[in-house]
Amino acid sequence: MSEETIYKGLAGVVADHTAVSKVNPETNSLLYRGYPVQQLAAELSFEEVALLLWTGELPSAEEREEFIAFERRHRALDPRVKSAIDLLPTDCHPMDVGRTAVSVLGANHPQAGDSSPEAELRKAKELFAAFPAVVAYDQRRRRGLDVVPPRDDLDYSQNFLWMTFGEEAADEVVDAFRVSMVLYAEHSFNASTFTARVVTSTLSDLHSAVTAAIGALKGPLHGGANEAVMHTFEEIGIDPEETRDQAAARAKAWMEEALGQGRKVMGFGHRVYKHGDSRVPTMKSALDAMVEHYGRHELMGLYDGLEAAMDEAKGILPNLDYPAGPTYHLMGFDTEMFTPLFIASRITGWAAHIREQRADNSLIRPLSAYSGPAERSL
Ligand code: ACO
Repeated sequence: MSEETIYKGLAGVVADHTAVSKVNPETNSLLYRGYPVQQLAAELSFEEVALLLWTGELPSAEEREEFIAFERRHRALDPRVKSAIDLLPTDCHPMDVGRTAVSVLGANHPQAGDSSPEAELRKAKELFAAFPAVVAYDQRRRRGLDVVPPRDDLDYSQNFLWMTFGEEAADEVVDAFRVSMVLYAEHSFNASTFTARVVTSTLSDLHSAVTAAIGALKGPLHGGANEAVMHTFEEIGIDPEETRDQAAARAKAWMEEALGQGRKVMGFGHRVYKHGDSRVPTMKSALDAMVEHYGRHELMGLYDGLEAAMDEAKGILPNLDYPAGPTYHLMGFDTEMFTPLFIASRITGWAAHIREQRADNSLIRPLSAYSGPAERSL
């Protein structure tokens, strides 16, 4: 590759091998370690998917039980993390809270300087277990509520919802939440994962790589799109009294106007998938279940209206963030909390890539083509 060949946004560049996941835009498929993500979402717990991503294989019954017990022992909100969160304003972005919490956990980790594969796997498992309490507490403090301690008779998803809302969620809600966690877990060299690999390539530590990845995920062109989707719904106006058809008609008109003004509408389009995001049908089914559960059919009207108008005008299809946003809204999360939920899930994929990068490392350092003034004198 000549130095002057520019691949803006690294589009189309194959930066390295990975055995973690395979995204195939031609067949609209996504495999985690060889397994179709739809099958994993249908049959496995999020805890099992995490182990699969990290180790490359499905866990044995013994490995699964051991990890479940480990996860339950590491769920409580670390008091040092709570103190750090309490220093942050309740109107700062929750992604700033998540980024700070991971930093605090890294700085206090007894094996902070140990990047052996064993230490990093342990750190990944601890972070996986500890992060839900960060999101749950941040959601609660924004509503003037205190910490709800974890319960070790609940699985990851049940406990996440318990710590956030202080009540046991219905099975359908837990299942939709679990599905979202599985679908958000991994997606090859997306911007945040690539960020984590860049940081790891300098031989920095796992918490630094995850902290940087959270910064990349925050942006509305990446993870921030799930909350941006809800802002779109809010801008159109959510009216539970409206019928599905009325809502769809208003959404369609809104989209036509927005596209007429040259606006980008979040939750649509993808750098890799040009014929639809492989994860959308599974997440859409989870959203359908939530709409039924909460009896909020007008939201599906908004969903359908925007989707149809975008398809008609530009042929651009929804990405995972599009059905995920309203799903989290129905569950009761504030819109700003949606992207931290993405962190909780993607910690798994990031850690898998950090381990892979470390095992066969080469410093990631591309070239640039200089376009400033020619050499000149003062
Ligand atoms: N709304 C309106 N127009 C769009 C959208 C959109 N969401 N997405 C793409 N387009 C249009 C662009 O305006 C552009 O049109 P033009 O050629 O007339 O200028 C064309 O489609 C190509 O778009 P690019 O942004 O160049 O395509 P790229 O592959 O770089 O972008 C991206 C992918 C960044 C995801 C883009 O589709 C986008 O900005 N979408 C909205 C943000 C979003 O939903 N991100 C979530 C990604 S998935 C995830 O993180 C789980």
